[in-house]
Amino acid sequence: MKKNILRVIAFSWAYCLPFLVSAQSTFQVDVNKPASDVQPTMWGIFFEDINFAADGGLYAEMVKNRSFEFDAPLMGWLQPNSDRHSLNENSGMATIMKEEDGLNPHFARIEINNSSGYVLINEGFRGMGVKEGAKYDLSLDVRRLSDGISKINFQFIDENGNGIGGTSISPDSKDWKTYEAKFTASKTTEKAKVRITFEGTGMIELDMISVFPEDTWKGRPKGLRKDLVQLLYDLQPGFLRFPGGCIVEGRTLAKRYQWKKTVGDIEDRKMIVNRWNTEFAHRLTPDYFQSFGLGFFEYFQLAEDLGAAPLPILSCGMACQFNTGELVPMDELDPYVQDALDLIEFANGPTDSKWGKIRADMGHPKPFGLKYIGVGNEQWGPDYFDRLKVFMEAIKGKYPDMIIVSGTGPFPDGEHFEYAEKELKKLNAEIVDEHYYRPPQWFLDHADRYDSYDRNSYKIFAGEYAAQSVAIASPDNKNNWQCAMSEAAYMTGLERNADVVYMTSYAPLFAHVDAWQWTPDLIWFNNLTSYGTPNYYVQKLFSNNRGTQLLPISSGNEPVKGQSGLYASAVLDGNTNEIIVKMVNSTENDQTVNITFNGAGKLDSEAVLTVLKSDELQAVNSIDHPKAISPTDSSQPVKGNKMNISLPAYSLSVIKVKQK
Ligand code: AHR
Repeated sequence: MKKNILRVIAFSWAYCLPFLVSAQSTFQVDVNKPASDVQPTMWGIFFEDINFAADGGLYAEMVKNRSFEFDAPLMGWLQPNSDRHSLNENSGMATIMKEEDGLNPHFARIEINNSSGYVLINEGFRGMGVKEGAKYDLSLDVRRLSDGISKINFQFIDENGNGIGGTSISPDSKDWKTYEAKFTASKTTEKAKVRITFEGTGMIELDMISVFPEDTWKGRPKGLRKDLVQLLYDLQPGFLRFPGGCIVEGRTLAKRYQWKKTVGDIEDRKMIVNRWNTEFAHRLTPDYFQSFGLGFFEYFQLAEDLGAAPLPILSCGMACQFNTGELVPMDELDPYVQDALDLIEFANGPTDSKWGKIRADMGHPKPFGLKYIGVGNEQWGPDYFDRLKVFMEAIKGKYPDMIIVSGTGPFPDGEHFEYAEKELKKLNAEIVDEHYYRPPQWFLDHADRYDSYDRNSYKIFAGEYAAQSVAIASPDNKNNWQCAMSEAAYMTGLERNADVVYMTSYAPLFAHVDAWQWTPDLIWFNNLTSYGTPNYYVQKLFSNNRGTQLLPISSGNEPVKGQSGLYASAVLDGNTNEIIVKMVNSTENDQTVNITFNGAGKLDSEAVLTVLKSDELQAVNSIDHPKAISPTDSSQPVKGNKMNISLPAYSLSVIKVKQK
């Protein structure tokens, strides 16, 4: 008798256990009631040349200050054996010369008294990443002023100054001439430099000294860094915003981003200082300039490679309002407007048009199919709307189908934001850019932000957002799981409102681990490798599972937007006939969800479940542990039109089930 009592007690505990450890929720997905289309542009990427994203990053050039155009023209160049101020009898010296005209007028004149004593070294972008066995392309312009110098040697050196592969050229012309050579590295290191030595004595002039890996994205000579583009490609982005960000505006108008100076021959792209060079006293980067080797042609080409719609953002005639706030007077705005019209012609115009011809001459006769153009970045106040109106009239007058993206300023609420909303409605704005750099909790609390947006007004471009673990622009911000998970929760709200939210992008995109100014960032890299942050994997899971139509998902007749700490959204992929459900469990406990797919066709008996999670909210990925937080796949049973899923604590789960 005693035994039986024990068995009854044991049975009832076993029965209750799941309820004690795991709360249960019920979700209904209305497969037969698609709520709206999901735009192909829904999940995109934002590129800005911040944190060495272009020079020193995506643009694979390894020589820093290759054309001696930095403000300190020998920055990045070392002459360990020479006295910089006078010519040493046992060595040599580089002097910076300047052409009378020319966009990049400086070059180096090297005078050598003793060739075994003179060495010129380029330190690269915080070093150069070289790989054993990999090939590198050297090129440079040389003018030989006297016959004495017969050879120039180039060698990678490692951290100890040991040669690790090199080549040489024999200069033979008294006029400027371009020389090219290939060489192979014999060791892998992240911190190589290039050492240049000379044979003979005399005087010689050098310019555009360049070294690229041969193995670039798509093998394009002098192209983009392959691993970094691959990470972008894997996101399958819907659009590519470029070139920023505040870099569009410039700290002064003179230093704004001018696309026309970034196309054509590389030598003719005028180098300027990067606005992030000295923006933050706590992260000074005096060696940050813009060579524009990654200019507007390369940008359109990259967008095409990624299958992403290009979305260029242009200056509206206002310098950054956090800096000088310089304004172009209204009666002097024409050249700025003309820049926008000409960019459209550069992208789409026939090859016999002025700018279409330049595109064709650069190797892309086919139009790039530009459909969107952004006017201004983080502008606020009446000056912006006065200028925006002029751009809108001119662009729509000439290109009625071009979709104009306008801005609401730097903040997602407050006086400037509310003023912008009113003005943009008056102007019948089409797509409007909103930015939010906010704490993780803000993202959880505002997952319903767009539920109440006006359905008869403009569409939304969430153009820059990222959860800040400490505070906006704090150097202590981390790309931790708490931030990534809260963004995922918020993104279910973006997706739920796909009828009004047309475009979204995390910002910024890239950061060099030794040369960043702003954190958090989606992708981090050193000179050899790169990794996606947990935030990257969140973006990837949403973007790779974009779907084509929005499906309502509810719990007790309410959209799932934070009840019991759960967030969810659902889509149908009309191309594959898959139902895709994204769910975030933001709590510290596992939770079970019973999902019913109402009105679904016959479902496969197994679904694919992808989970991204960490038990530790502060956990991050790193160069040494690039995939510490990354998605894992498993299969889950589907019974009829139902399934049970356990959502682990602190997780994003994506379920994909196919309808027959
Ligand atoms: O993403 C970094 C900066 O943040 C962007 O340049 C700017 O638009 C925003 O303030």
